[in-house]
Order: sequence, then C-alpha cells, then structure tokens
Amino acid sequence: MRRRTFYITTPIYYVNDQPHIGHCYTTLLADAAARFWRLAGRDVFFLTGADEHAEKVVAAARERGLSPQAWADQNAQAFQRAFAELGSSHDDFLRTSQARHKERVGRYIQELLDKGEIELGQYVGWWDASQEEYVTDTVAREHDFKSPVTGKPLVRRSEENYFFRLSKHAEKLAAHIEAHPDFIAPQARRNEVLGRIRQGLLDVPVSRKVQEGDDWGVRMPGDASHRVYVWIDALFNYLTAVDTEERSVYWPPSVNLVGKDILWFHAVIWPALLMALDRPLPEKVYAHSYWIREGRKMSKSLGNFLDMPTLRGYVARYGLDAVRWFLLTQGPLGAADADFAHAKFVEVYNADLANGVGNTFSRTANMLIRYFDGAIPASACAEPVMGFDLPTEAAQAVGRAVEAMERFEIDRALGEGLALARRVDAFIHATEPFKLAKEPARRDDVAAILTHAAEALRIASLLLQPAMPCAMAELQRRLGLEQAPGAASLEARAAWGGLEAGARVEKGEPLFPRADVDEPAPGPVEEAQL
Ligand code: MSP
Repeated sequence: MRRRTFYITTPIYYVNDQPHIGHCYTTLLADAAARFWRLAGRDVFFLTGADEHAEKVVAAARERGLSPQAWADQNAQAFQRAFAELGSSHDDFLRTSQARHKERVGRYIQELLDKGEIELGQYVGWWDASQEEYVTDTVAREHDFKSPVTGKPLVRRSEENYFFRLSKHAEKLAAHIEAHPDFIAPQARRNEVLGRIRQGLLDVPVSRKVQEGDDWGVRMPGDASHRVYVWIDALFNYLTAVDTEERSVYWPPSVNLVGKDILWFHAVIWPALLMALDRPLPEKVYAHSYWIREGRKMSKSLGNFLDMPTLRGYVARYGLDAVRWFLLTQGPLGAADADFAHAKFVEVYNADLANGVGNTFSRTANMLIRYFDGAIPASACAEPVMGFDLPTEAAQAVGRAVEAMERFEIDRALGEGLALARRVDAFIHATEPFKLAKEPARRDDVAAILTHAAEALRIASLLLQPAMPCAMAELQRRLGLEQAPGAASLEARAAWGGLEAGARVEKGEPLFPRADVDEPAPGPVEEAQL
C-alpha cells in the first residue's frame, strides 16, 4: 500500500562551496519526484538545505574577516537563489546553524548518551600536524606515514572522544537491508554496502575537541569541550526538519536522495543512529552517480565545474524547461556516471523537445485551427481510431510512469510522457489527417484523429510536467484547459476524455524552437546580468 504522505530529502550542501551542476542535479531530481507525487494527489514534503558546521567554514570566514554565521548566511543564500532559479519547489530549506536544528540535535545526542549508545572512549589515529587533521589508516599506509598534502611525517596520536556504538547495530542493519530489497538503491550500490557491513563495523567518533575561541557547531550535551561532529549533526537534519507536531506525519522519509560519494553515511551510520533512537527508518536511500563534463571528471584542480553561470547560459538560450529535461533524463540516475557534453545537449533538445513534443503539438494545433476553426471538434471517444488505440496506450503509459516513479526511476517515468507524444506523431503520420481533410466525406474521421491526438498530448503533458512545469502549463493552456483542478490521483487526472468539445486551441510560438547544432556552447551568464 502506498502511503498518502511522501517525504523526500536531498543532502544538505556544504556552505563553503558555490552551487554547481552536482548540487542542482540532486535537488532537481527530488523536485521532479515531489512534483510528480503532488500531481498524483499525495501530501508531499520536500526538504533541502545547507550544511554549515564544517571546520572549514570557521577558517574561510576568518580569512575574510567575517563571523562564521555571516559567511554561512552569504553562501546559503547562493544555494537558495540557485534553486529558485531552477524552479525547485522545496517546502523547506534547512540550515544547520538554525536554532530549531541545533536544539533538537542536542536532544537526540542526549538521548543516545542516556541509552548508552554514545560513550566516551579513546581515539587513536594518524595525526597530520601540518594539516591539523587525522588521516585514515589506509591513507597513512598509502603515503608511507607521511602527510598526503605536505609530505611531513605523521604522528600516532590519541585523544578522548565520544563514540557511537555502530558495531552493536551491524547485524540488525544487515538483516534490515536483506529484508528490504528496495531500502538501498540502485541494486549495485546495495550489494557494495552489504558486502562492507558483513566485514564488520567499527564504532565511530561523533565529537571533536573544540578549538579555542571557536563557538561554531553544536556542543556535546554535558561536555562543552566537545562539539558534535559535523556529519552526525548534518544527518540529523532529515529528522529535525519534521520533528514538530505539524510535520511528524511525514516521518519516516520516503526517499533520502544522495550522491554515491556519501552513501556510506546514509546507508549505514544514519539508519544505525535511527535504530539506536528507536525511530522508523527511511523507506529508501537512493544514491545517484556523478556528472562529468565533456568526458572529464569535474574537479577543483581542473577548475572545470559546471557552475551556475554556465547553467544560466543554457537556461538563457534554451529555456529552463529544456535544461531541466536534459539533466533529469540524461543524468547519472543509476549506477553509471553521465557526461554533460554540449553536442549531446543540442541533440537531445532537438530530438525530444523541438521535433518530439513541440512539433507534434504544433502540427496538432495547426490542423485544429485550420480545419475546425480552433475548437476541439468533439469529445474524445474511448474507441480506437483507424487502428490506433491511443486511449489504452495512454492509460498504460500512465501506469508504467507511476511504477517507475515508485522505483525512483525518474528518467523512465518521464520517458513514458515523451514516448506517448511520439506515438501521437506516428499516429498523425500514419492516418494523414492533412490528406483526409480534402475529402468532405471524411470530416468525422479528421475530427476523431485530431481529438485523439490532442487528448493523448494532454495526458503526455501531465507526465512531462514534473520535468517541464512551465512549458507543459503553456501547452495545456493552448489546449484550452483551465489550470488543472485538484484531483485525487494521477489516474483520475489522466483519465481519457479530459478535453472538452468546443475548447479553444491556440498555436502560439514554438514551445521549443529548433536549436542550431553548429552554434558553439553558450557562454556564462553572471547573476548580476539577470
Ligand atoms: N554536506 C554533505 C552532505 C550532508 S547530508 C546529511 C555534502 N555536501 S556537498 O556539498 O559536498 O554535496 C554533496 C552532494 O552533491 C552529493 O551527494 C551529490 O548529491 C551532489 N554532487 C556533488 N558533485 C556531484 C557531481 N559531479 N555529480 C552529481 N552530483 C554530485 O557532501
């Protein structure tokens, strides 16, 4: 049974970075899922936010002569503006420096201390004094016990630390993953995680000694010389955001969406923390893969991150809906990385949008205007027309899209909308209403063809709407539809026969003008130019 509520989260992004395609992609995936389930009548809560308590934030702020809070404020805004530009429909943007979050993290940690799930212990590790950080045993060994950054010798050092007793939960966690095949997705990632858990889990430190003069972060309850380790602090955001009387209906998350880089924290430490707190676990932790750019990994050292000015350049030339479409359908949703290449962008744009959805709509609208004075000639019968059973095909497309969305296969769900639009094109091509229109005796056939084409396009537009909310709202408007009234389910909205006889059809400018394949990639557009 599907729950009535749908709670989806993105990672909360490090506030020291500037937003780039990776952050935008994760947030847009969550956005498409949120929009889809809202359309399907579920009560959706979509959370994103900023992770602010990293030690680097303190250092970066100091370099600029700012307080950590002032620096975090500036940068959190950059993420908020970026997500607004991309049309993200999140319900909340959580910042870990907010009192509502800090106060609740303190409470969960206290509860874990009370239950004996967190205990004081000795941390022993390889200390890189030149970088002021511990490196893992593996990294130490790989670098011959020298600093990977400066090459200075590492020293064995120990300190008092609070530990979460992760080891205690290993068996229960493995059993949960076994019993819930969809808990970690995609499948390949699930197997990796299970394999590692079976090798055994070590307890993990959950606090850091507070440096002098540093009041950033959440203090360990009862021990002001320690603060909660930033990762533990951050993971709790998914809970703090909805741990209120009003929002508790959303717990547990339907999907904790993350990138593959941070799956371990989300598939192991996070559920173990929740088990220790006796809270229900998320239904699914989905890890997507990585965007690369023109065949190369994006990295700080190469300086080739696809950043907001570049994305804005694409939005300015091709439109926001086209950029969302490309990211959502061509992105690294499964276990393989995906390439953002300009030539591919243009190819997909022309094939799917200009020639696919856009052109099919224009042809249909043109003929309705030419032959029927711009009015839908009849209400669409549910019978096949000239051998094409679009009513059944449309219902099947909707069914498959819902199933795909349930598995979080967003690209497939959207693909169903595109495939349906392409079927309409094939239908027009095969039945040739433009020829039949010359024979007065075939007027009813022409009416039936065009009505079916328009009706199937209406249904396709519903499936495409989570990716392209603006263009699809415009397409629906041009089909003479009022803004979709609230309906209980997608199945009800997408039921055959939603277009009314007599509704006025408008052609308008092309929804997706053809793109010139020879034009070089658009240049960056700074925010100030907007
Ligand atoms: N602050 C932590 C997450 C804490 S969640 C409790 C963090 N932040 S981050 O700013 O580094 O963002 C990481 C996320 O950005 C990844 O998990 C992924 O969702 C996204 N991406 C970053 N680079 C990416 C690509 N190159 N491609 C796709 N997404 C990637 O980790």
